[in-house]
Amino acid sequence: MNRRNFVSLAALASLGLAAPERVLQAAPRKKPPVTNFSLTHNTIRYFGEAFHTPTRIVFLSDTHLWQSDEREDPYRQYSGRMAAAYNQTQHFQTGQPTNPMQAFEETLKLAVQQKADLLILAGDIFSYPSEAALDWAQAKLKEAGIPYLYIAGNHDWHYEGMPGSLSQLRETWSAKRLMPLYQGANPLMSYRDVNGIRFIALDNSTYEIQPEQVAFYKKHVQFDGPVVLVAHIPFYVPGRPIVFGCGHPQWGVVEDKGYELERRPQWPRQGHTKVTLDFHERVFSTPNLVGLLTGHIHTQSLDVYRGIPQFVAPPNLAGGFLDVRFEPV
Ligand SMILES: [Fe+2]
Repeated sequence: MNRRNFVSLAALASLGLAAPERVLQAAPRKKPPVTNFSLTHNTIRYFGEAFHTPTRIVFLSDTHLWQSDEREDPYRQYSGRMAAAYNQTQHFQTGQPTNPMQAFEETLKLAVQQKADLLILAGDIFSYPSEAALDWAQAKLKEAGIPYLYIAGNHDWHYEGMPGSLSQLRETWSAKRLMPLYQGANPLMSYRDVNGIRFIALDNSTYEIQPEQVAFYKKHVQFDGPVVLVAHIPFYVPGRPIVFGCGHPQWGVVEDKGYELERRPQWPRQGHTKVTLDFHERVFSTPNLVGLLTGHIHTQSLDVYRGIPQFVAPPNLAGGFLDVRFEPV
C-alpha cells in the first residue's frame, strides 16, 4: 500500500498528526486553501488561513435505532433481523454496556454542551424506517435545539426482503418516514454553510451517484472557501476492500457477499455506473475540498488520497462520533 495515500489510524490516534500542505495532482484553477489537520482519538482539528472563525461540528452516523410499537406490526417480516442487531452495545471508549438510544442522547447532550455549530447525522441513524424510532429521534433533536443536517444511510430506508429496487425503496421510505429530518431539503443532496465552510451532503446509500447529484456538486463546490463532503458510504481509496467504498472499479455482482443476508437485489453485473466512477474522480480532484466525513463501516479510520483526508466515524451505536474543529491560524 502506498504510504503517501494511506495513513494508519493506529499511528495517528495516539500521536496526533499534522499532515503536510495539500498535494494536488492536477493544477487547480485557483489556489486551494492551505489546510492542515490533526487527529487525536475521535477529535479532528483543521487549522489554516481558510478558516476565519472557530467552528465546531459534531458528526455522527450508524446509531441504528431500533424501537418499535404496534405500528410496526405489518412490517415485522421486513424488520426482524435489524430490530435485533444492536440492542446492547459496548461504549467505544469505556467498554461499558450501552445501547443506541443512550448513545444518541449522550452525543446530542455533548453537542449542546460544546455549543456545536452544526450536528451532522450521516445515515444509518435507524436500523430500518421505524415510525417509533423516527418519532423518538425527532423529539430528541427538537429538545436539543441544535442545527442539524441529515443524510440517509442504506439501512434508514431499507425493509429487508421488501420487493423493489434499492432506489425505489429509498424513494418510497424517504417520502413516507424520513422526510421531516430533511427539514425541506432535497433528500439526495443539500448543503449548509457554517462560518464560511460549506458542507455538501450527498446520499450515496445505494452505492451509486445520480447525474443530478453530480450537477449539484459541480455547482455548489464553486465556492470561495473550504468545502467538506458528507456521505454515508466512504468513497473508494486504493488499498481498501471493495465493500469499503463507493466507486471501487471492481464493485459489482461478483463481489456482493451480503445480498442474501440483507435480502436485497444483488449489486449490478456491470458494476458501477460511469456517473459514479466519474464522480469519484471529480471528488478527489476538487481543489477546495478539505475532507470527507463518512460512516457505514462501523470502524473509525482515516485515509489520505491525493492529499484529501477521508474520515470514517466510530459508530454511534457504541457512543462513537467525530468532534470536528476548524480553527484559524
Ligand atoms: Fe451502519
